[in-house]
Amino acid sequence: MPSYSALASASLADTPQAREASDLDARFGRPGAVAFRASALGGVVAELTAADGARAMVALKGAHVLGFSLPDFGDVLWLSPVARLDAVKPARGGIPVCWPWFGPHASDAGRPAHGFARTSTWTVLATQHGHDGTALIRLGLRGADIADRTVAAGYADLTATLDVTLGTTLRVTLTSRNHGSHPVAITGALHSYFAIGDIAVTTVDGLAGRPYIDQLDGGTLKREAGPVRFEGELDRIYQDTAGTAATIVDAARALRIVIANSGSRATVVWNPGPGKAARLGDLGPDGWRRMLCVESANAGADVVLLEPGAEHALATEISVQAL
Ligand code: BG6
Repeated sequence: MPSYSALASASLADTPQAREASDLDARFGRPGAVAFRASALGGVVAELTAADGARAMVALKGAHVLGFSLPDFGDVLWLSPVARLDAVKPARGGIPVCWPWFGPHASDAGRPAHGFARTSTWTVLATQHGHDGTALIRLGLRGADIADRTVAAGYADLTATLDVTLGTTLRVTLTSRNHGSHPVAITGALHSYFAIGDIAVTTVDGLAGRPYIDQLDGGTLKREAGPVRFEGELDRIYQDTAGTAATIVDAARALRIVIANSGSRATVVWNPGPGKAARLGDLGPDGWRRMLCVESANAGADVVLLEPGAEHALATEISVQAL
């Protein structure tokens, strides 16, 4: 997996990205907490550092959290070794923002899967260095700035902000607002890719007893019997998960990753297995063994109807404990 030093190029080369990073640093840099860099992956990133040594990296393209590491545990998020920020598709890994819809569009198959937010360049709105040593960046996107057919269906009236707050945990909050005069239906996800030691000895706790949509069985509704285990491709939308924290138990790394969601009644669990990983082609060799997506989502039956003037916050907070 790319290390932080590979992600953030210290080069002062006179490229457009380096100039943009330097301008952003002058306006929004917070010494010791927030710095902007031209990334070796091809775009501009914000590097966050918290007082206790936690680090996170956020790309302006997609408001995409690319990395999150803790001093005691190392990398918490997974990023493909072949990830690029200047490709048409979003970088595989980190936390892509799926918005304003999750998966295929409900009524127009011609629209891109998982919405337009993850491939759009967001604007830096604010940064903060908290008294408690936290580092924060706020990025924004206006539906009206998306100059293609995806702006139909009221999306042009929407704005999104993404707050990334780094302390001893990583908290990500996606706030959607409807500035128009008609209700707009949205879905979405914080599509987190976690770095795990070995998918064969990894489980997800906290979802037992929940109904789920099995996306690999024609959308059949099933009920989870116990911890989620992985024996090949798995793609499920768990329902009624409000107020529960899904927990990845990674026996190979001897750690537990707790994913506490809010503003969400759905949790998506996805691993492509070897077959789909080969078809996707951007996970790197055996990448599917080292990643697992557990996503805070508004998906399946959890559709949010944003009334005029209303806002909705979808959030996830990620923390790690030793087993
Ligand atoms: C998951 C979906 O959230 O994202 C899967 O449940 C999908 O069905 C996966 O394959 C990856 O999507 P994409 O568009 O990033 O390849």
